Amino acid sequence: MSAQPKDIRVDDRHPDVEDTLHTVRRGLALKAKKLPSRLFYDERGSALFEAICEQPEYYLTRTEIAIMRDHAGDIADTLGPDVRLVEYGSGSGIKTRMLLEHLVTPVAYVPVEISRSALMESVAELATRFPDVPMQPVCADFTQPLRLPVASRSPRRTAIYFPGSTIGNFESKEAIRILRLMRTEMSDGGGIIIGVDLKKDPAEIEAAYNDAAGVTNDFTLNMLVRLNREIGTDFDVSAFRHRARYNVLAGRIETALVSTKRQDVHVGHDTFAFREDEAMHVEYSCKYSLEDFAQLAAKAGLSVAKVWMDEDHRFSVQYLVRSTPVA
Ligand code: AVJ
Repeated sequence: MSAQPKDIRVDDRHPDVEDTLHTVRRGLALKAKKLPSRLFYDERGSALFEAICEQPEYYLTRTEIAIMRDHAGDIADTLGPDVRLVEYGSGSGIKTRMLLEHLVTPVAYVPVEISRSALMESVAELATRFPDVPMQPVCADFTQPLRLPVASRSPRRTAIYFPGSTIGNFESKEAIRILRLMRTEMSDGGGIIIGVDLKKDPAEIEAAYNDAAGVTNDFTLNMLVRLNREIGTDFDVSAFRHRARYNVLAGRIETALVSTKRQDVHVGHDTFAFREDEAMHVEYSCKYSLEDFAQLAAKAGLSVAKVWMDEDHRFSVQYLVRSTPVA
């Protein structure tokens, strides 16, 4: 059985232009302006993110892939046979491929992704590589409760795969909410395989978000290009700059778009004024110590069962299980 377009479940909560308009209007009306980082990922944004992963300063992806290369066998052993693998967000598929290669008779692969084109692309590629693994793509926003498709054969456990340290994009309250959602989504004996970026020399972290080639700069600014095109705003893109700084106390990269001049931006019938040098927050990328992350997981009713890391402890892949029964 392989994926056919008809297998795609369309979720009604797919954000459309109206939602984006609403999100932007609300974000610009705040005293401290902010827009959510999910707005980065239109087609060009996703391509730019892939290019970021190739930059020498951006250690995250390459390190996580190395961890998977060295430990995918052990991770698959931890999950055991007949797993239903649910992936939150479908990336370029390299890490997923490494995991699927080691899983013994997986029941299904269920990628959950909000971008239909990204979902279709990754599933098409994986379906040819793993013709014996049933593919059940779901087009939905994983930050909301899901309705997972029923598998053709009953799984021994449902494992959620959430690579890339995407969890770091959420502030702790929101991260806990999402981990709780995953905890509900997985079966009783289920678990979560999650990529978590670790605290390290601030200079090294900061460099990863300020690559010399300027790809991250283009990635950040593309959010405005996208909004101008999709919802008709009139941000003067040439009068904004990317700024990414590591906040040591908070343990996170804070990315902002800074207006280099006084300017008015129109969103529908509303006008929003930017002062010269005013910063609009667009992304957090949280970094954790092993203790930090164990504490966060505990607040979501999860405990860390295993941790895999690279030699230099730059990045971790962790296995989380339920620490308390479902309420
Ligand atoms: C895709 C969330 C893992 O926060 O490191 C990369 C996104 N932003 N460079 C990250 C990102 C700027 C990335 N994640």
